[in-house]
Amino acid sequence: MRRIGVLTGGGDTSSLNATLKGVALEAERQGFELLGFVEGWKGLYEGRYVKLRSDVIDERAGGTLLKTSRTDLRKVEGGFERSVENLKKLGVEALIAVGGDDTLTVGAAFAREFATAFVTKTIDNDVGRNPPEGGRFDFEGMINYFCPGFPTAAMRFASFVRDLRTTAYSHERVIVVEAMGRDMGWLALAGACGGADIVVIPEVGLNYERLKELVAEKFGKQRHLIIAVAEGIKDEEGRLLIQNPDYIDAFGHAQPGGCSELIAKRLKNDLSKKLGTTNFNHVIPSYLQRCGPPTEIDMRVSMELGRKAVEALKECKVNHVACTMRRGDEIVAELLPMDEVLQRDETGKVIPRGVDPRLYEPEAMNATAEGIEYFRPILGEMPRPFEYPKLEIQRV
Ligand code: F6P
Repeated sequence: MRRIGVLTGGGDTSSLNATLKGVALEAERQGFELLGFVEGWKGLYEGRYVKLRSDVIDERAGGTLLKTSRTDLRKVEGGFERSVENLKKLGVEALIAVGGDDTLTVGAAFAREFATAFVTKTIDNDVGRNPPEGGRFDFEGMINYFCPGFPTAAMRFASFVRDLRTTAYSHERVIVVEAMGRDMGWLALAGACGGADIVVIPEVGLNYERLKELVAEKFGKQRHLIIAVAEGIKDEEGRLLIQNPDYIDAFGHAQPGGCSELIAKRLKNDLSKKLGTTNFNHVIPSYLQRCGPPTEIDMRVSMELGRKAVEALKECKVNHVACTMRRGDEIVAELLPMDEVLQRDETGKVIPRGVDPRLYEPEAMNATAEGIEYFRPILGEMPRPFEYPKLEIQRV
């Protein structure tokens, strides 16, 4: 094998360049020439590529040097055929695609003619499998412990939650802060590590009455409150609380967003009299969760995954995914067949991995002890949420 190709697809994350760096370094070590296709699958069928060397890739930079797009090749007329033709013209013998479940699913079709390997990435952390149901949560039984990009986004979100407490305290605010993550609550759950008082995730339909009770109880005690909500939270009938009607991506995903404002308004309406405050606010950090440099662990593991993907190609494997696995307190990279990584329904559609019920307590609306433990190797030592001393207020 002389030439291999690589591309990044789907939403960007902070650790994509780290994966590309791992791919490039290992390709050079193996004596392969590396071509990078620009803007994901779009660049492949349009035939746009660069010769990629490790020295031009900065693993500490967020985003992706190769750029990305949300392109579903299956919906582009002749897209797949043109892509195959381009790869053959260039003498590319194997392909690495870095992306979420959509990128992996599209990429799997190339295995008929090329060696293929994949590295996942998504701040949604929804590509992989939870350990089998029943009993304690077996951290080592989780397939793809985290998706590259998630550790950085989780650190960012947990830090926002932690830092918001000082303004919440100072103004006696209730702040509803909204995490990305589409239909899954992993990022919102990271808010628990930043000390969120309440966490609401899409995997459990919103019990608004319970939320009101908790807000009244906790605000009553501490006179400020941070509520972390996932952008994709649903009502008890499973309907998205809010979504942008103008935006459906190429893969048919609706764009959620804005539920924090809705919840803050409803709580203000229903509780301001009872709690004696009208100070209900919302914060949407949006792309601030997805941009900028990766955390150390995200960068290190993402590079290792890139290296592993090249190893898979060298061994002429097809449709293998370089996955993260937890071994003790360490995260290691392992190659697994795609079928073991992605769970599908009877129609073949990928089922995204949600927050396991053992990691979240619906009554308390917060992470369980196992939920916090899940984040330990991902976030490392999180700075403790700031705590003010109690004021002994006196009256004249
Ligand atoms: O899938 C990653 C993600 O960041 C989701 O969490 C979010 O809903 C969506 O992408 C945002 O899409 P876009 O990058 O197109 O704004």
